[in-house]
Amino acid sequence: MRFCVLGGNGFIGSHLTDALLQAGHEVRVFDRSPERHRQPSPAIERTYGDLRDVVALRNAVVGIDVVVHLISSSAPATPGIEPAEDVTGNLVGTLRLLEMMREARCRRIIFLSSGGAIYGDQVRPSIDESHPTDPLSSYGIVKLATEKYIQLFHRLHGLEFTIFRPSNPYGERQLGRQRVGLISAALAATLRAEPLPIWGDGTVIRDFFYVGDLAEAIVTAVERGASGIFNLGGGQGIAVNDVISLVGRITGRPLRVHYGPARPVDPHSNVLDVRHAEAVLGWRPRTPLDAGIERTWNWLRAEARAASTDRA
Ligand SMILES: NC(=O)c1ccc[n+]([C@@H]2O[C@H](COP(=O)([O-])OP(=O)(O)OC[C@H]3O[C@@H](n4cnc5c(N)ncnc54)[C@H](O)[C@@H]3O)[C@@H](O)[C@H]2O)c1
Repeated sequence: MRFCVLGGNGFIGSHLTDALLQAGHEVRVFDRSPERHRQPSPAIERTYGDLRDVVALRNAVVGIDVVVHLISSSAPATPGIEPAEDVTGNLVGTLRLLEMMREARCRRIIFLSSGGAIYGDQVRPSIDESHPTDPLSSYGIVKLATEKYIQLFHRLHGLEFTIFRPSNPYGERQLGRQRVGLISAALAATLRAEPLPIWGDGTVIRDFFYVGDLAEAIVTAVERGASGIFNLGGGQGIAVNDVISLVGRITGRPLRVHYGPARPVDPHSNVLDVRHAEAVLGWRPRTPLDAGIERTWNWLRAEARAASTDRA
């Protein structure tokens, strides 16, 4: 199959393009920035442009079977982002994309929504895909609205779709353009021997899963032609303070933490029920948390060594 991965030079995109190539698919990447951590693979066709650029977008989706939409220029607590900018850049940009796909007769979209941002506060024992949605941030509202428009295009024009709601993926190459990724931030602070800022008292509960497992879920869904909405996550909750202790044990370097005020955009607990993905896709998060953190730590140290060799 021919894929166009929008945002393919980012953290998740770089892992997904690896997984797609490995599964024998053709990959075109559309992004406004180059990949930061690796030399470009000659196996990938790269096109550069902004989601707001209609001509570039039209060219990117021509001749493509499946579009994977990973572009987001915001995150739950992006500093200084105005809701109007969020809507114009991300939601309106995606609506134009859906129109372009219709014109180009591209039949399927995979969209990465957010399991952490669209449900809001937990009001039922389990956060499965039918849990009420009540986003606490502009990011979550835009993600939810995007999901709804994709479903509208399905009803009106037969566009096939798979929407993933990931919790907190982590792994190599997550070194934030955005302020996301507790594990990567904790490892980076450890490496620099700097304190890690934490919003709140560290008792909030989250679930984490390795980015390679996320890429595997997407490839599996496409190959099975699975449609619908799927939570993806580690399936188990862990408090932020316990993540910090675990990072300290794995790196052998205790991490200092600066606690600040909790943010109003963060629900206290968010642990996704991933049984639907297991039932339909046969998918489970396979990488144990300690093994994934160790892999990410080794990568980060190798990057730091390479950077200091380059400077020497
Ligand atoms: N990383 C997470 O914790 C997480 C969790 C849930 C959902 N998601 C979603 O997954 C998707 C990918 O996340 P990521 O962590 O890989 O992000 P990332 O920031 O690493 O990658 C996003 C890529 O999109 C590109 N991009 C951003 N705005 C663009 C624009 N207007 N036009 C063209 N390119 C643009 C960036 O250059 C970047 O390469 C996003 O939609 C994000 O909301 C991420």
